[in-house]
Amino acid sequence: MVFSKKFQFVIPFFLFMLHLHASTAQNIGGYWFAGSGFPASSINSTLFTHLFFAFADINVTTYRVTISSSNSVPLSSFTQTVQQKNPSVKTLLSIGGGASNPSIFSAMASQPSSRKSFIDSAIQLARSNNLHGIDVDWEYPSTPSDMQNFGQLVTELRTSVVIEARDSGKSALLLSAAVFRSSNYYSLNFPAKAMNDSFDFLNLMTYDFHGPNWFPNRTAPPAALYFQTNSGAYQVGGDQGISSWIAAGVSPRKIALGIPYYGYAWRLRNASNNGLYAPANGSAFGGDGSMGYNQIRAFVSQNGARCVYNSTVVTDYCSSGTTWIGYDDVQSVTAKVNYCKSRGLFGHFVWHVGADNNWALSQTAYNTWKM
Ligand SMILES: *[C@@H]1O[C@H](CO)[C@@H](O)[C@H](O)[C@H]1NC(C)=O
Ligand SMILES: *[C@@H]1O[C@H](CO)[C@@H](O)[C@H](O)[C@H]1NC(C)=O
Ligand SMILES: *[C@@H]1O[C@H](CO)[C@@H](O)[C@H](O)[C@H]1NC(C)=O
Ligand SMILES: *[C@@H]1O[C@H](CO)[C@@H](O)[C@H](O)[C@H]1NC(C)=O
Ligand SMILES: *[C@@H]1O[C@H](CO)[C@@H](O)[C@H](O)[C@H]1NC(C)=O
Ligand SMILES: *[C@@H]1O[C@H](CO)[C@@H](O)[C@H](O)[C@H]1NC(C)=O
Ligand SMILES: *[C@@H]1O[C@H](CO)[C@@H](O)[C@H](O)[C@H]1NC(C)=O
Repeated sequence: MVFSKKFQFVIPFFLFMLHLHASTAQNIGGYWFAGSGFPASSINSTLFTHLFFAFADINVTTYRVTISSSNSVPLSSFTQTVQQKNPSVKTLLSIGGGASNPSIFSAMASQPSSRKSFIDSAIQLARSNNLHGIDVDWEYPSTPSDMQNFGQLVTELRTSVVIEARDSGKSALLLSAAVFRSSNYYSLNFPAKAMNDSFDFLNLMTYDFHGPNWFPNRTAPPAALYFQTNSGAYQVGGDQGISSWIAAGVSPRKIALGIPYYGYAWRLRNASNNGLYAPANGSAFGGDGSMGYNQIRAFVSQNGARCVYNSTVVTDYCSSGTTWIGYDDVQSVTAKVNYCKSRGLFGHFVWHVGADNNWALSQTAYNTWKM
C-alpha cells in the first residue's frame, strides 16, 4: 500500500521532471584559445556543456587541417584537462576563425579533392587528440560560388563523419559551425538547408554590431538583442539574426546565440551626454577599442564608472569621464539566456571563456538556464 502510493507519486513526478528537462535543456558553449594566456586547466568546465579549442589552420598548399606548433601540446591535453572538473563536457576543434584567411577556405571548398583533404585531416586531427567534434569557422563565404561550395563541403563532411563512426565503432563526431549573425551575408544566402541537415548546431556570431572603428560618431550597443529604429545606429540585433536563420530553414534546436565576453570603448564628445547613441569620436583607447569583460570590470571599479542596463535593446554600458563602454554584464547575459530558453534554442556560446571575471557571467548564465 505504502509502496504503490509512492509509485503513484514517483512515476508522474519522474515523467514531469523528464519533460521539464527536455523543454528547458540548454547548451552552453565556450571558446578557448591558448594565446589568451588563460590556462585551460583554470576553466570552470562545470559551467559549460561544450568547449571549443580555437583554432586549427588550413595548409594553403595541401588543404589539410593542421595545428600550429604552439597549439599542438595544449590541443593534445585539452579534453583530459577540461574533463577533470566536468567529465561530460564535450570538446570541439575549431578550424579557421576571424584571423584566418577566408580565401584558403574558398579555394579548399571549390574542388572535390581539396574538400576531401580538409575533411579527412580534420577528422583525423580531432580523433587523434580525443576531441568530440569539429567546428567550422569560415569567416566568411562571400561569393555565390562560396555559398554553393560551403553547402557541398558540409554535406560531404557529414557523410564522412557518419562513415568514420560506422567504421571506427565510435560515436559520431559532433559537427558545428560558427556563422554570420544572419542567414544572409550582405544579400548572399547561406546554404541553410544543407547546414541544417549536416550540422548538429550553429553558433551565430551575434556580436560586433557596433564598434568605434566602424561606427565612430555615436555610442551604440555592440551586441544588443534588439535594435531601436531612429537611433542613428545600424538596425541589427541578435533576435533579428536568430529569426533569419529560422526563416531560412534551420531548426531553433540547432541554433546557439553568441554572447561576447568583451565590449567596445568609445570616446564621448561630452562627458555629460553619456547614454546610448550619444555623440562620440571613435575609440577611447586607440586600437579597435575592444576590452575583455574582466578589463571592463577593473575599469569600472578603478574609476567608479556609472553602469546602466538598458532592457529595451538588451545591453549594458558604463561611462566615466569621456570613456563610454558598451558590453554585456550580468543583466544582459540573464536576459539573453532567458531569450534562448523562450525561443527553444539549442543554447548559447561565449567568446571567450578567459575574459570572464571570476566566472561571474558564466555562473549567471548557468544559474539562469537551470531555473
Ligand atoms: C564552478 O562552478 C560550479 C557550479 O556552479 C561551482 O559549484 C564551483 O564552485 C565553481 N568552481 C570554481 C573554482 O569557481
Ligand atoms: C603546408 O604543407 C606543405 C607540404 O606538406 C609544407 O611544405 C608546408 O610547410 C606547409 N605550410 C605550412 C604553413 O605549414
Ligand atoms: C563621422 O563623422 C565625420 C565628421 O564628423 C564624418 O566625416 C564621417 O563620415 C562620419 N563617419 C561615419 C561612419 O558616419
Ligand atoms: C532541420 O533539421 C532537423 C533535425 O535534423 C529536422 O527535424 C528539420 O526537419 C530540418 N528542417 C528543415 C527545414 O529541413
Ligand atoms: C554637454 O551635455 C550636457 C547634457 O546633455 C549639456 O547640458 C551641455 O550643454 C553639453 N555641453 C556642451 C559643451 O555641449
Ligand atoms: C577626434 O579624435 C581625433 C583623434 O582620434 C582628434 O584628432 C580630433 O581632434 C577629435 N575631434 C574632436 C572634435 O574632439
Ligand atoms: C534604452 O535606451 C533608449 C535609447 O536611449 C531609450 O529610448 C529607452 O527608453 C531605454 N530603455 C530603458 C528601459 O531605459
